[in-house]
Amino acid sequence: MSSKSLTVLPPGLLTAADYERLAPQFLDAGTLAYLNGGSGAEITLRDNLAAFARHRILPRLLRDCGGGSTALSLLGRPFHHPLLLAPVAFQQLAHPDGERATARAAAATDTGLVLSTLSSVTLEAVAAETPGEKWFQLYFQPDRAATADLVRRAEAAGYGALMVTLDTPVQPAGERATRAGFVMPASVRAANLTGYAPPPRRVLNAGGSLLFQGVMADAPGWKDLEWLLGLTRLPVVVKGVAHPDDAARMKALGVAGLVVSNHGGRALDGMPSALDLLPAIRCAVGADYPLLLDGGVRSGRDAFIALAMGANAVMIGRPQLHALAVAGALGVAHLLRLLRQELELCMALAGCATVYAIGPEALHSPQL
Ligand code: FNR
Repeated sequence: MSSKSLTVLPPGLLTAADYERLAPQFLDAGTLAYLNGGSGAEITLRDNLAAFARHRILPRLLRDCGGGSTALSLLGRPFHHPLLLAPVAFQQLAHPDGERATARAAAATDTGLVLSTLSSVTLEAVAAETPGEKWFQLYFQPDRAATADLVRRAEAAGYGALMVTLDTPVQPAGERATRAGFVMPASVRAANLTGYAPPPRRVLNAGGSLLFQGVMADAPGWKDLEWLLGLTRLPVVVKGVAHPDDAARMKALGVAGLVVSNHGGRALDGMPSALDLLPAIRCAVGADYPLLLDGGVRSGRDAFIALAMGANAVMIGRPQLHALAVAGALGVAHLLRLLRQELELCMALAGCATVYAIGPEALHSPQL
């Protein structure tokens, strides 16, 4: 855990990559491995980044971009720009202020924030730090009463939507973190869950399967999603969608939007990059349905490419942790400003005055 983050930013911090390069000076090796790592052989983690590097942007000339703007409406709510902070658990691993600092940065930069169920600061305390747009990421709890209570608390604290994450019914051990000897410090806890009974301890019995009869017996199913949709007045967004048929079924059920995501390469290793999944899902849900993407977005250029391929907005995961470790709220706010500036520059040079003007025709297709 870092207690010596910067209060003045050095002049060489110009990109998310600069923060990533500096972060190891502020984090111990185990924590860095936990935050940066992916599941399995990290094939999907690498693919998330490589997918963006495959695309090129084709600028148009002489278009009127005066009066341009990154503003958009998402779930009927106004956003200043399409870069949101992804739900990332246990942010006190990166900085003692944890999610409080991230929320302050979101407020200072007009950035939408999605808070994890597993935040190390309570959802109420985080809400108090930002009057801006914030959503709550929900993990179904083994006990429905606890899940319902989390939903009520998020509603009462002013969260504008629920983002339910469904891609990790079981959480793969991060092998990079295990090898580096990472152990969650006792001081960092899932602050939202302290009032609920801990999940039952599963014991592997002879001949039994821990995974299927244990963990997976509690995993949510379609009935649970329907139950959630009936429980809350908030729009529900599903995070972790990869298959177009799942996307279409969720839309038909009344899910308000989807996040195309592989959990930043921390769910099923070997699944495609988030960017590669996007076009088929856009096709399945139609042009007007809210779609977010996360996984591998490291620059405004990446965000532009995701929007061109069908996303309405993107979420940023690990870069917020790097910036948080390096310089707390100041670092995250600075990172968000850099990313937004990069996006604006990209839009201006490509000839797209608004985010709605960014479409597939803005990408270079060598085969044409
Ligand atoms: C995550 N992610 C995540 N997702 C979620 O729905 N709830 C959570 O609590 C967490 N926690 C979490 C912790 C850490 C350390 C990481 C790196 C990621 C996944 C996150 O929301 C997002 O999907 C990815 O981080 C996006 O990929 P990039 O931007 O990190 O490449």
